Amino acid sequence: MTVTIVGSQLGDEGKGGVVDVYGDAADVVARYQGGDNAGHTVVHDGEKYKLSLVPSGAVRGKVGVLGNGCVVNPETLFNEIDTLRERDLEPDVRVAERAHVILPYHRALDGIEEAEKEDLAAGTTKRGIGPTYEDKAGRRGVRVGDLLDPDVLRERLEYVVPQKKALAEEVFEKETGEAFDIDHLYETYREYGKRLEEEDMTVDCGTFLQERIDAGDNVMLEGAQGTSLDIDHGVYPYVTSSNPSSGGATVGTGLGPTVVGQGDVIGIVKAYLSRVGTGPLPTELGGVEDQTPDYDPDEGAGDDEEALATQIRDEGGEYGTVTGRPRRVGWLDMPMLRHAARANGFTGLAINHIDVLAGLEEVKVGHSYEFDGEEIFTVPPTTEQWGRCDATFKSFDGWPEVDWAEVAADGYEAIPENARTYLEYISDELDTPIYAVGVGPGRGETVIVENPYE
Ligand code: GDP
Ligand code: IMO
Ligand code: MG
Repeated sequence: MTVTIVGSQLGDEGKGGVVDVYGDAADVVARYQGGDNAGHTVVHDGEKYKLSLVPSGAVRGKVGVLGNGCVVNPETLFNEIDTLRERDLEPDVRVAERAHVILPYHRALDGIEEAEKEDLAAGTTKRGIGPTYEDKAGRRGVRVGDLLDPDVLRERLEYVVPQKKALAEEVFEKETGEAFDIDHLYETYREYGKRLEEEDMTVDCGTFLQERIDAGDNVMLEGAQGTSLDIDHGVYPYVTSSNPSSGGATVGTGLGPTVVGQGDVIGIVKAYLSRVGTGPLPTELGGVEDQTPDYDPDEGAGDDEEALATQIRDEGGEYGTVTGRPRRVGWLDMPMLRHAARANGFTGLAINHIDVLAGLEEVKVGHSYEFDGEEIFTVPPTTEQWGRCDATFKSFDGWPEVDWAEVAADGYEAIPENARTYLEYISDELDTPIYAVGVGPGRGETVIVENPYE
């Protein structure tokens, strides 16, 4: 059977941690979309692993698969595998031959276009995600299977690279270097192809996973990003270029929807909101320059609100892992979650980070929106409309700081009562049971209510 893990908000909800918590019972963990724009954290025994491509089950020694819906940068993949080996893990990673390859020109073009786009820029991770999915849809991409065949690889590069070079030089007036050089790319990517072959890493993903399921194995499908970053269901154009929502789990692995639908689809919820990137955010607290639309750092959002934002940001460690830049934070947004619950068909929820909100006197939730004088309960279809929504808040009494490891050991009833009221409100509004509650980053800091494999 399968269990699908899906981000229900804007990424970084703690998906990696939930994969790790439930991963004990899984035999195979497969990513179904995205690439090294992801950063999934697993914390165990004082060790912290930040995984961008290798599926999070690697920490428990599970077989990892990068499905056909992923975009794979082989350089990142091999660096990550080598780093994990240095840390005494033995990642066993398979890569779908149908997955698309991120090439250096994709990364270069991602940066170039972001700089040009101004108000339309999503604030991408500049990993080349969008340009690679563009080439996939444009039927000019290079697939992992192509790296194994020298003639096919050369033919593909000879077709596509001159177009990319012309785009960079003639449309964007940029200088190009070896990222746009056919011979250099051919040599480098053939080497990756050889290593994939030598380590016997490539698979026909759907067949591989179905055979494992038929043999009785448990498969976990690990989503990256989140539903509001989904190219179809998110805040377009401030989104990523794939489908993190549960439909992506079938298309991106080659398992049928009836197979994925037999198992649980678990929505991972952060108990507040965090956002890396631009676009509207009706429940935002304070603001971050260059990301919050129309934010004036001299005016701010008022001292109290900025102080609250800083408190949640500090408690939750909401600062960029590479840049150290503050992330945008806000109260939980229920219209966003109702939209996610419907689009994904959640059968269970894992609600993380309730420890981060501990100690606040009052915890608020955007219960509905006021949109052109009307109360609405889900997100409107265009982002311009979303930007005109004002959140209508509901207020909850805060809960105290407690020994969260003890709470995790004692179970759900040990969670402070006010926090349970908050959790049950979310569960009731989404008509979805709570499977787990995250009370800290570590494997042992999760209250498990339901195990989807049992
Ligand atoms: P992902 O991208 O969804 O896998 O999430 P990230 O790993 O990018 O971000 C989640 C961060 O919060 C990581 O640093 C996790 O270790 C941490 N985390 C996960 N769950 C919890 C929780 O319940 N409480 C706290 N305090 N931290 C958590
Ligand atoms: P995980 O899997 C949070 C955001 C970027 C940007 C937009 C598009 O760790 O939850 P892209 O590089 O994908 O073209 O950027 O999506 N973004 C994420 N935000 N967590 C992620 O992944 C993200 N992956 C992409 O900040 O706004
Ligand atoms: Mg992340």
